[in-house]
Amino acid sequence: MTQQLKAFMKENIPVVEKRMNELVEEITAPEILKEAMLYSLNAGGKRVRPLFVLAVMNHFNVKDDAAYTVGAVIEMIHTYSLIHDDLPSMDNDDYRRGKLTNHKVYGDAFATLAGDALNTIAFGILARMEQVEAEKRLELIDKLSVAAGAEGMVGGQILDIEGESKQLTLEELEKVHVNKTGAILRFSIESGAILAGASEAEKAILVEYAHHIGLCFQIQDDILDIVGTTEQLGKTAGKDIASDKSTYPALLTLDGAKEKLHAHYQLAIEALEKLPSESNLLKEFAEYIVHRNK
Ligand code: IPE
Ligand code: IPE
Ligand code: MG
Ligand code: MG
Ligand code: MG
Repeated sequence: MTQQLKAFMKENIPVVEKRMNELVEEITAPEILKEAMLYSLNAGGKRVRPLFVLAVMNHFNVKDDAAYTVGAVIEMIHTYSLIHDDLPSMDNDDYRRGKLTNHKVYGDAFATLAGDALNTIAFGILARMEQVEAEKRLELIDKLSVAAGAEGMVGGQILDIEGESKQLTLEELEKVHVNKTGAILRFSIESGAILAGASEAEKAILVEYAHHIGLCFQIQDDILDIVGTTEQLGKTAGKDIASDKSTYPALLTLDGAKEKLHAHYQLAIEALEKLPSESNLLKEFAEYIVHRNK
């Protein structure tokens, strides 16, 4: 990782984490529910999605405290998706972010409800961001509901489960990835552009970049499931083969998956080159996504 990206992460991750904690602490809800929500939020995680919001803002040289709130909200939705993804009825995982999964600590019912609470709270927080003009708030709420819901992540999770024990075509598999992982990543990048007041042309370029970043991210996740260790990943390695998931390595072999990863990385970089001004940070981010080892 470059020094620039490392410094960017070091500066911004603590601010996002503090914001998430404040937003949960201030709600009136049963203590055990807040505890379960904070357990998974504070378990760690790379915070890639909030960092993308901030990296796009950085590209446009716009500083706005609302970006931390939007980043925190996306991380809450992402964390809810992980809590549910790990449930026994879904991927049935015991470890996440180096700790026991939420349901292992709080039981299936409370873990499900902690996820529900993180999901629903997110939209209210966006609605109440008074420093952002109402029209932008509405656009963010609308786009997040599409990205996280039936037309995005939730729909993708359905396709992912349907893809177990059956051979998908590459086209079908790409659709799983674009939805289950790509949609929220795309929203992260697009929301940064919305907050920064990017032009429609710039937004379109960034969405193209985000499309390839989303694919890179999940292809690398599938590769790491094979080549990574449980200790390194903080989640059980080898899960995909054990559950006969359709993944890029399963369909194309490990080398074929690595080739696809590289091809989408190239396309992400080519998209960035269309922007009127250069963005080293977003380029470095793309590199980090394809080289990450956890
Ligand atoms: C894991 O996401 C699930 C996928 C969508 C691939 P991350 O790899 O971003 O997990 P954390 O947030 O760092 O734990
Ligand atoms: C999960 O994909 C994507 C989500 C929407 C949570 P995976 O099932 O591959 O994620 P991991 O490997 O458990 O983190
Ligand atoms: Mg899954
Ligand atoms: Mg999983
Ligand atoms: Mg995985």
